[in-house]
Amino acid sequence: MLNYKNNDPHIEGTSLHDLVKVCETPFYVYSQEKIINQVNKTKEILGKNIFYSIKSNSNQAILKLMNSLDLGADVVSVGELKRALDAGFNPNKIIFEGVGKSEQDLLYAMHKNIRLINTESLEEIKLLDSLATEKNRVVDIGVRLNPDIDGETLNKISTGKKTDKFGIEIDKIDKIVELVKSCKSLNLVGISCHIGSQISKIEAFKNTFNQMKMAANKFIESGINIKHVDLGGGFHVKYKDSDPDFNIGMVKEELDNCFTKTNYELSFEPGRYLIAEAGITVTSIITIKNNGGINYLIVDAGMNTLIRPAMYGAHHEISAINVNSEEFMNYAIAGPICESSDIFLKNIKLAKQKIGNLLVIKNTGAYGKVMSSNYNSRPLPSEILVHNDNYAIIYSPEKIEKTIEADIIPSWL
Ligand SMILES: Cc1ncc(COP(=O)(O)O)c(C=O)c1O
Repeated sequence: MLNYKNNDPHIEGTSLHDLVKVCETPFYVYSQEKIINQVNKTKEILGKNIFYSIKSNSNQAILKLMNSLDLGADVVSVGELKRALDAGFNPNKIIFEGVGKSEQDLLYAMHKNIRLINTESLEEIKLLDSLATEKNRVVDIGVRLNPDIDGETLNKISTGKKTDKFGIEIDKIDKIVELVKSCKSLNLVGISCHIGSQISKIEAFKNTFNQMKMAANKFIESGINIKHVDLGGGFHVKYKDSDPDFNIGMVKEELDNCFTKTNYELSFEPGRYLIAEAGITVTSIITIKNNGGINYLIVDAGMNTLIRPAMYGAHHEISAINVNSEEFMNYAIAGPICESSDIFLKNIKLAKQKIGNLLVIKNTGAYGKVMSSNYNSRPLPSEILVHNDNYAIIYSPEKIEKTIEADIIPSWL
């Protein structure tokens, strides 16, 4: 994402060094141009029914941008639903998913008249029906199916296998039909699925499409008027330089092969694919040390800033900003958090570094800031959006004093 102008690293037309002058590291930077290009490319290939999975990056500025690009929103909590509404998404373009929605969550979604509430269990269908009946409403719903497909991705981001907690098993369609037909206040109009994240095998998408087509046919044959078939997200992003390119055109080919003439509309709900590559994390080297023959660069970003490596074993490439040195060294790059898992990369060759230098962690636009925490009582990272030679700080963390103030000391202490 960085381009160099006279040896000066830039994001679009903005110098990284200018950003460091106004914002303390670690921080996230996003390129507006990259987001727009990726969204437009995705829409061009997969069609207009794209619901941005806002869990991947739910900053209000990003949501406003996504809404201006005519995307819908896929939300998984009332908090996210409030974010989407606040950013201006039309309720009719919001889908509410999530494996555990409370009564209050369902009531709120119903009250906001969103496009679809995608239910994930038979119990949830029953609960929603009783709430809708109580409120004298008829509510359009979808059902998230679990197609029992292994997306062959990282274990902790697989969601489509039979034993995963998500969706209703696809071989329970008869039960779903029977239940829905007995519901007074629900209209089943959609089915959806999401087999996991970071899926690179086109075969997995092909199998999913076939399963979903069969499922749609089965519902239709049982007298249910399916209008929407939502095929999830999960498109791969090239995190390692050595990863093969993910060809979304091949997903489209499989889509066209599978769904020829249909009376329902097809949609997708990607997050990562739309924004991961448009973001980087900028961090400074706090100290340098050698332990047991390993050269550690201890940086100010940690697992509290970007948890994916520690949590999933995910890989993010890291590059140095000072590339002029003649001397190269092998480093391990670790954060300041008191956990052994707080390591980003173990064996990376970089130009010789010194304290204070900047490093850039790549492809962190998705599931970066949204998963950050105050662990070790460190502040959350800031976020900056760049637009040509313009930039804006779009998230500024509260001071640690404010965080401390939120704790409440009981009277007996
Ligand atoms: C139901 C659902 N849809 C869509 C997504 C988006 O996945 P991705 O960001 O990999 O495209 C997720 C991510 O976990 C999800 O749980």
